Amino acid sequence: MNALILTGSPKGRDSSSFLLGSRLGEALRNHGVTVRDEFAHQALRTEEGTRRLLDAVDASDLLVLAFPLYVDSLPAPLTRLLELAAERRTASASPGGPLLAVLVQCGFPEAHQCDTAVGICRLFAGRMGMRWAGALAMGMGGQLGGGFRKLPGGGRNILEAIDRTGESLATGGDVPGEAMALFSRPLVPRWLYTLFGNLGWRVQMRKNKARRPLAYRPYAK
Ligand SMILES: Cc1cc2nc3c(=O)[nH]c(=O)nc-3n(C[C@H](O)[C@H](O)[C@H](O)COP(=O)(O)O)c2cc1C
Repeated sequence: MNALILTGSPKGRDSSSFLLGSRLGEALRNHGVTVRDEFAHQALRTEEGTRRLLDAVDASDLLVLAFPLYVDSLPAPLTRLLELAAERRTASASPGGPLLAVLVQCGFPEAHQCDTAVGICRLFAGRMGMRWAGALAMGMGGQLGGGFRKLPGGGRNILEAIDRTGESLATGGDVPGEAMALFSRPLVPRWLYTLFGNLGWRVQMRKNKARRPLAYRPYAK
């Protein structure tokens, strides 16, 4: 099996999306899958890069989209790539497509914030004739910045969810339901995440010499 793990964060290798995606890559490799990593933002910068990435999508048996939630949806270059892949597929449709799985995380505390983006990917799979394998979705993505080791409990739930998913996908299965549940479990109590989140914003405001209050909403009535 050939898997393509496509990171959709502009932060590339420094992103939480890549941290999660590369861990899934490791799990897949452990089960004999050949894994290739690509970055949507990088590839789309040139025509050659775009063509190579679309070829890689076509050649994969398993496509994994690893991305951050951006305004309830996918980062724009990843959306663009899906559009291009869909155009190409209708032009030269080969029957039976790869399996599509998603790894998505967001800054808000709740995993369900990712539902719309997951729905978009599921519809994309359907229109492309791909088999939808499911999604691992989590909130509190801001916590992943320091790597798994710095997470409470060493990120045990996340690692276990990814490992179980890798095992299942490697044999053509779906993302297991228990893995989805484990992955979406809050890493810390919601109040604690919000407290540190707000603190982080205040530090950034001070650094950038922003004078308006944090709750300033000039366009709200
Ligand atoms: C432009 C932009 C839009 C975002 N939109 C959302 C959003 O709608 N909901 C949310 O919960 N987080 C949102 N976030 C937060 C990111 O999903 C979050 O910071 C994520 O952990 C970044 O992951 P990465 O390191 O893989 O880029 C947004 C971030 C940016 C930069």
